[in-house]
Amino acid sequence: MAASDVQLPQPQPGPGPGPGSCPPQQDEWTQVRRKPRRKAAAGKSQQQQRKTPAPPSHQPPGAGAAPAVIMMRADSTAHLSASDIQRDYDRFEKSQWQGSSCQRRLKDLILQQLQASSSNPPPRVNQAVCLGIGSFDPEDGAWEVKRRAHIQLAAFLSIIADLQQHQQDPDHDHDQQESSERPPLAIRCFFQEPLFTPADKEFVKGLGHEVVDSPAGFAKVDRETLVFGVHLYRDIYNQAISKCVPAVFIGTGLDIWEGYHGSGGLDWVKMEELDRQCDRVPFPEDEGFTTFSSTSIHWRNT
Ligand SMILES: C[S@@+](CC[C@H](N)C(=O)[O-])C[C@H]1O[C@@H](n2cnc3c(N)ncnc32)[C@H](O)[C@@H]1O
Repeated sequence: MAASDVQLPQPQPGPGPGPGSCPPQQDEWTQVRRKPRRKAAAGKSQQQQRKTPAPPSHQPPGAGAAPAVIMMRADSTAHLSASDIQRDYDRFEKSQWQGSSCQRRLKDLILQQLQASSSNPPPRVNQAVCLGIGSFDPEDGAWEVKRRAHIQLAAFLSIIADLQQHQQDPDHDHDQQESSERPPLAIRCFFQEPLFTPADKEFVKGLGHEVVDSPAGFAKVDRETLVFGVHLYRDIYNQAISKCVPAVFIGTGLDIWEGYHGSGGLDWVKMEELDRQCDRVPFPEDEGFTTFSSTSIHWRNT
């Protein structure tokens, strides 16, 4: 689909694509109308577009509202097939994720959390919504952007696997099993990312997960949901937690937003509620990369 309208975030104040760079952008979406049939403009990469200076346009800080126009990309800018993406994932997962300190520390954190409090067990997770992971086939093919999407996916799937292994299905009928052990609770996973190419979607579905269009993913979030969204815009977070505080929220926490110059006067009600109802631990660093910078794991404690 050819995109005629795109939204450009304001120039990023922070270093690189990670952390501080994203939070500030949300309230200053700028709508730019591309002239049709201009090849140069249509071929411009998302990275290049982000550097384009644009005059500020002030949205009301109502925050809950979705951006009026969602950034999409032209199908002609997709280069990889679903099997190319699967091959990339297998490579990144094996060489950059398995055995990394980030992977080990993340596993320890999840297990600690699950085992820590038998008197006050962590909330159950029976589904997960992964937001804004990025395309696995970025427009400019940049290795680091691609790596970031794959490592975020590997981390997300590791968390889901650990939760599945340690949560048992409470609805399972004991009488139907010889063993008194309940089977693990299957966690249904939804992915929402407007930049996904058809091959990205096919890849994700091939892993056994579901892809939804925005805003359907927001509507799925309930108190037994894990929400995973790294380096997202404030409005996306607000939409994700607009109905309730989910069981687990992985993303940029209130601590980071509060420290951002220029965030005064915005609507923080939902973020404050999340902060109040959760215990927060920093997401382990992906050494040498900004993959999880400014990201925390929030566990609801009520
Ligand atoms: C700053 S990027 C972060 C990408 C990646 N997670 C990272 O750490 O680099 C924000 C992402 O949010 C995605 N996004 C925008 N609107 C969205 C929506 N309504 N639902 C889910 N993702 C959205 C964008 O397409 C983009 O990939």
